[in-house]
Amino acid sequence: MDKLKEKFKVKAEALNIEIKDIIKTHGDMKLGEYTVAQVYQGMRGMTGMVSETSKLDAEEGIRFRGYSIPELRKQLPKAPGGTEPLPEGIFYLMLVGELPTTEDVSYITNEWIKRSVVPKHVFDVLDRLPVDTHPMTQFSIGVMAMQTESVFAKAYAKGMNKKEYWEYAYEDAMTMISRLPRVAAYIYRRKYKGGVHIEPDHKLDWAANLAHMLGFEEFDMKRLMRLYLTIHADHEGGNVSAHATHLVGSALSDPYLAFTAGMNGLAGPLHGLANQEVLSWIMEMKEFFGGLLPTKDQIADYIKKTLAEGKVVPGYGHAVLRKTDPRFTAQQDFYRTYIKHDDICEIVQMIYEVAPGILESTGKIKNPWPNVDAHSGALLVHYGMHEYDFYTVLFGVSRALGVMASLVWDRATGSAIERPNSVTTDWIKKKIAAEKAVS
Ligand SMILES: CC(C)(COP(=O)(O)OP(=O)(O)OC[C@H]1O[C@@H](n2cnc3c(N)ncnc32)[C@H](O)[C@@H]1OP(=O)(O)O)[C@@H](O)C(=O)NCCC(=O)NCCS
Repeated sequence: MDKLKEKFKVKAEALNIEIKDIIKTHGDMKLGEYTVAQVYQGMRGMTGMVSETSKLDAEEGIRFRGYSIPELRKQLPKAPGGTEPLPEGIFYLMLVGELPTTEDVSYITNEWIKRSVVPKHVFDVLDRLPVDTHPMTQFSIGVMAMQTESVFAKAYAKGMNKKEYWEYAYEDAMTMISRLPRVAAYIYRRKYKGGVHIEPDHKLDWAANLAHMLGFEEFDMKRLMRLYLTIHADHEGGNVSAHATHLVGSALSDPYLAFTAGMNGLAGPLHGLANQEVLSWIMEMKEFFGGLLPTKDQIADYIKKTLAEGKVVPGYGHAVLRKTDPRFTAQQDFYRTYIKHDDICEIVQMIYEVAPGILESTGKIKNPWPNVDAHSGALLVHYGMHEYDFYTVLFGVSRALGVMASLVWDRATGSAIERPNSVTTDWIKKKIAAEKAVS
């Protein structure tokens, strides 16, 4: 058994004993009550699942196994000469619950390099799609094409013991993650660079190799990729991509099937596609004001116009967060430290100054502050990646780290098939009438 898997096994056995005891001793403890409004409005605030890898606090933002993003930017191992964490490190942290050493991270880098050869039929499948197919659709189809490689599905078909589920889920997770950068880069080069592909460089770490295969050799873009792929990795379990992966995985669909479900959710404009939306919204605004750097007043007018047209201001608001997203702040810090001046990034800063007040004044938007997507596209454009509709694929490559670590935990802890109740409005009306009759 490989050493990461061995380490996970020890942790999982210990947690399993604890979970059994928690259910036995405290299984009847109430975690909360929920209302009719919550049932209609996206189950907001209802605790309904366990996700070990990260926890979101409404005021403070995300913590991965207890560590905030600023802490991780300092403490996770970096590439030689690098300043941003290697995403391999956050995967290790989410999987085993401990900060990795440089050696632990190198182990994962090498393990992913060993597994990273994408079968030819995956490229053949992608090549059959119309080239203008949305990159997220191509990504989802590319991952589905890799499902032929699932050792979980093969072992299940042969008949495997429940206790072995996690081992095969781990193998699939590791192999799939190792191959995602190649699939993502293939889609990018096929769609925007005339199908001129770039072979992987096995001397590079996971994120730098992605930048390389996309066609970006500058150190700064590799540095950005390391930060980008670290901060987008996970956002506790209830967001659409994490929840969809968990839900589909709960049917014992293999990790490829489960991850694709998550990616189809990430492709929605209220979730991951917002990073594409932010950039096109900024560019439309710039165009609207004659192509020059807009003033704060003009930006404020444009935000009001967007709201008046019944559209959302992309990159603002969140279902859980109630403050500026620390993932936004990390990217703002990256901009100030390494870029210092860029027109689009300056527009992002000006939007940050005016948007919260306007959104708040509507009286209905619960969180007027920026989320992760408000900044990411501007940094990518700065380094020359202008193809907005590709951005969500980068988000997806990163999100694999969190949702796959969670899926391995799901299989290791015997997480049950998800099957909540649903009711009809008629049922709710009868329930309301019955309550009224009693009072
Ligand atoms: C993220 C998001 C989907 C959360 O939705 P939510 O939990 O329902 O948010 P709220 O409870 O604050 O929504 C209350 C109302 O404010 C609106 N609202 C929320 N964020 C808004 C925004 N950025 N611009 C305009 N209206 C917004 C909602 O659409 C909703 O309107 P409705 O009552 O007419 O349906 C929402 O804020 C949004 O659409 N943001 C823009 C897209 C985005 O950036 N997504 C990435 C999220 S990481």
